[in-house]
Amino acid sequence: MSTTVRALPLEQLRERTSEKWREYPADVLPLFVAETDFPLAPTITRALERAVAIGDTGYIASRTPLAGAFTAFAQRRYGWAPDPARMRPTADVSMGIVEILRRVTSPGDGVIVMPPVYPPFYDLVEEAGAVVERVPLRDTGSGWEIDLDGIRIALEGGARAVLLCSPHNPTGTVHSATSLVALAELAAAHGAAVVSDEIHAPLAQRGAGFLPFLAVSDAAREVGYAVVSASKAFNLAGLKCALMVTASDGPTRVVRSLPIEVEWRTGQFGLLAAVAAFSEESDEWLDGLLATLDENRRLLADLLAEHLPGARYRTPDAGYLAWIDLTDLGWGENPARRILREAKVALHYGLAFGAEGAGHVRLNFGTSPEILTDAVMRVSTLRDA
Ligand SMILES: Cc1ncc(COP(=O)(O)O)c(C=O)c1O
Repeated sequence: MSTTVRALPLEQLRERTSEKWREYPADVLPLFVAETDFPLAPTITRALERAVAIGDTGYIASRTPLAGAFTAFAQRRYGWAPDPARMRPTADVSMGIVEILRRVTSPGDGVIVMPPVYPPFYDLVEEAGAVVERVPLRDTGSGWEIDLDGIRIALEGGARAVLLCSPHNPTGTVHSATSLVALAELAAAHGAAVVSDEIHAPLAQRGAGFLPFLAVSDAAREVGYAVVSASKAFNLAGLKCALMVTASDGPTRVVRSLPIEVEWRTGQFGLLAAVAAFSEESDEWLDGLLATLDENRRLLADLLAEHLPGARYRTPDAGYLAWIDLTDLGWGENPARRILREAKVALHYGLAFGAEGAGHVRLNFGTSPEILTDAVMRVSTLRDA
């Protein structure tokens, strides 16, 4: 049994004041930034209402239940129980990535990223004082995988860290155990760190075989850092809370060496919401969300096949982001621009994810079937225009 999780109606969504609902005028359907259109999980609403009622709006405490809540969540959802003593909170996943990269690289060192990838990764590496080394994902013909040969060559060339996106944004790829084990071994052999951004992990579909990087092997625990958050699955990005997770002494020492300010920037509401999200009481809601996203990812396949033949889309293993190749429609390098201007649908520009994104768009299907259908129908009108 799971709760049914349905997106809010469009009129209500338009009352929201976040980026998704304020960037474009009201005649545009926004399916770009990674916010979802669902109501909050009731456990989270209750936690935040209580905090508002009693004015619980100070700094986060130095001892909080967050790490323990994540351990219990990881145990229930992934069969993995990381040690809460080896974690520290921070404001968001991006900050966790930057702070860890600053510690594990020296200025000018190479950090491997795997395009097409979440656009801010390029900026985060630079913010840490390092240099992006691109090792694109390999297209296998039916999916994407880590290019282990490419990674080996980059590590032999001196790259000091790998910034892994697991599951991968924008393709929704859940990396295989074989790839992750081999990646850990390569990193260990070259004395490099792996920073695994697992923000989309709670949204891996059952059966996709998601494995936390730190759970795959001793080598992964020796070289690895995971940065996790409840924010994508539970739509809490504005509340600011993430967790840096380690599983062996070297990485734990690195995370402990970060100044206390890195923790203090965590939002109190974010922390309260994350504890509620990771609690067992929210599991049924999360299962309901996964069921809805499973329906949406299939609906999108049907809609594209019927109304936009020529669009190439592989159903993602995780999350609510669809990576769609529109090259065959002949709409040029940046189809999202024309789609925004003429169809009034805001999608993420493929090129922002790297040169591999030419001709592609990223579409957020964390919404209602009605909005998703309307969006594809609007885009399909351009076919004959
Ligand atoms: C892979 C990935 N990492 C990080 C972020 C941003 O997370 P945060 O807001 O916690 O920095 C996102 C947001 O969509 C994302 O998709």
